Amino acid sequence: MSIHIITIDGPSGSGKGTLATMLAEHYGYHLLDSGAIYRLLGLSLYQRQLLDQLDTALDQCVDVAKNLAIEFLPSLDGIRVLLDGQDVTAQIRTEEVGAFASQVAAIPALRDALLQRQKDFAQAPGLIADGRDMATTVFPHAIAKIYLTASAQSRAERRVKQLQGMGADAKIDAILANIEARDKRDRERTVAPLKPADDAKVIDSSALSIEQVFEEMRQYIDQQLAQ
Ligand code: DC
Repeated sequence: MSIHIITIDGPSGSGKGTLATMLAEHYGYHLLDSGAIYRLLGLSLYQRQLLDQLDTALDQCVDVAKNLAIEFLPSLDGIRVLLDGQDVTAQIRTEEVGAFASQVAAIPALRDALLQRQKDFAQAPGLIADGRDMATTVFPHAIAKIYLTASAQSRAERRVKQLQGMGADAKIDAILANIEARDKRDRERTVAPLKPADDAKVIDSSALSIEQVFEEMRQYIDQQLAQ
C-alpha cells in the first residue's frame, strides 16, 4: 500500500500547526512538524555556543544536525518535545528560539543535514507534513499539497492571543515587525525559499475560522485521495 503524503506549507502564524494536527487526527496519519526540527537545531546550536559560528564551524554544526537527539512524545496535552532527553516543549515556541531557527534554516548544509530525518516521518498509512518546503523539496511527490497563508496583521493578532494564552506579555507592534522580518528572510533566502509549489492549492485563512479552513482542506484532500 502506498503511503499518502499531504503537505501544508506557509508562513508562521497561518494556522498550519493547528490544522496539521487536526488533519492528522482526522485521517489517522502521522504528523511532521518540521519547524520544530529547525527550532530544536537552533536551540541545540545555541546551547553549544555554535550559533554565532555558523560560518566558521559549519562542519561541527552539520554534525550536531545529523546527530540531533530529539523525541516527539504524544501526551494528554499535546506532543511533548525532548532535546537530549530534556523537555523543551515550551522553550522551542519562544520568539527567541524562532529567530535561532530562522538563522539555521538559511544555511543550505544544515537544511541538507535535516532532509533524511524529515523524509523518515513518511510511514504508513500516511503523513501530514507541516513546514515551508514540504511540497517543493522534502516531499515533491505528495498526493495533496496545500499552501496556507494569511496577512501579516492577522498572523500577528493570532500570535498575540497565543502568547497571552500562555501567560506571556505580548506587544502587537513588536510581533508584527518580527513576523515581517522573518517572512522576508524566509522568502528571500536562496535555498528552499518560502513559496507555493506550482501544483499546490493555496488557501488564505485571514478571514476564515479554523473550522472553515479545515473543511476546505478536507474536501481538497478527499478529492486528491479519490483520484
Ligand atoms: O514553522 P516555525 O515557525 O516553527 O518555523 C521556524 C523557522 O524554521 C522559520 O523561520 C522557518 C524555518 N523552517 C524552514 O525553513 N523550513 C521548514 N520546513 C520549517 C521551518
